[in-house]
Amino acid sequence: MLELKNVTKKYGDYTAVNNLSLRVEDGELFGLLGPNGAGKSTTVSMISTILAPTSGDIEVNNKSISKYPIEAKKVMGIVPQDLALFETLSAKDNLKFFGSLYGLSGKVLKDRVDEVLEIIELKDKKDQDVCEFSGGMKRRVNIGVALMNNPKLLILDEPTVGIDPQSRNHILETVKRLNEERGMTVIYTSHYMEEVEYLCKRVAVVDFGECIALGTKEELKKSINACDVLSVSYSDAKEEDLKKLESINGIEKITVEDNKAKILVSPEKKTVIQIIQELSKLGLKLTGFKYEEVNLESIFLQITGKSLRE
Ligand SMILES: Nc1ncnc2c1ncn2[C@@H]1O[C@H](COP(=O)(O)OP(=O)(O)O)[C@@H](O)[C@H]1O
Ligand SMILES: [Mg+2]
Repeated sequence: MLELKNVTKKYGDYTAVNNLSLRVEDGELFGLLGPNGAGKSTTVSMISTILAPTSGDIEVNNKSISKYPIEAKKVMGIVPQDLALFETLSAKDNLKFFGSLYGLSGKVLKDRVDEVLEIIELKDKKDQDVCEFSGGMKRRVNIGVALMNNPKLLILDEPTVGIDPQSRNHILETVKRLNEERGMTVIYTSHYMEEVEYLCKRVAVVDFGECIALGTKEELKKSINACDVLSVSYSDAKEEDLKKLESINGIEKITVEDNKAKILVSPEKKTVIQIIQELSKLGLKLTGFKYEEVNLESIFLQITGKSLRE
């Protein structure tokens, strides 16, 4: 569906996107995850043909978008990071206006507006001016605009920044449904690890314009040998006894402090049950227990040495 081949974008001397290569297959829900300034919006602008890459090429359906921009734009719907709506028009009229830009008219346009209002669940508010909407509702109209030409590839640039949790959930569920029920290919751009983790099977993690990791979460875990974390707290134990657990196959490391132990477990050989059995053999009085699977946040931390939220 979409391929970026060694794409670089420079603003003057500054390299915002550096030699980025990735492929998104038909029907995928692909995540582009990275902190602010990573180059996500620049990448989206290049895919949408607003910006030309300094070098490299982008293909949609195996055709270069610099040579065939109109064909590319026909299959894409872009939801930009910044809202692009007419505040003094109603939701319905915004959709109508942008639909007409795609060449829709008459009954086809009217039906499409109704269908999109249904998808973004704003049918009951369709005649209200957008300026009266909450941030979350405006976002939904923004997504609706991108859906007007019934795109095969939908690209959303940080669609949940600065909106209430309910709207956020609504947007996540809508994106999921568009992918699962309509087979829409989606690129979901965000700096929220948990959203990308929830929605996307495959992820490109970007930082300073470079792709620092690419693959499914499982592949990323394996590539950096990331560990899950089992934390236990107890009221009474000898630290040397706990250290003995390090001999269990699958335990990478144990740190013990103040009646708490953090046990790093290799996710491939989950040995949690064995660990618990051994803990009970030690006669430990457990007062707390938490098992955290490695997530994209900890993967990012392990690769870059910093948190995604900085
Ligand atoms: N028009 C521009 N001119 C110069 N620098 C820019 C411009 N747009 C973005 N940048 C810089 O490029 C980098 C990547 O920006 P951007 O693509 O917006 O990142 P993200 O969307 O991941 O937050 C940032 O350091 C930003 O300041
Ligand atoms: Mg951005």
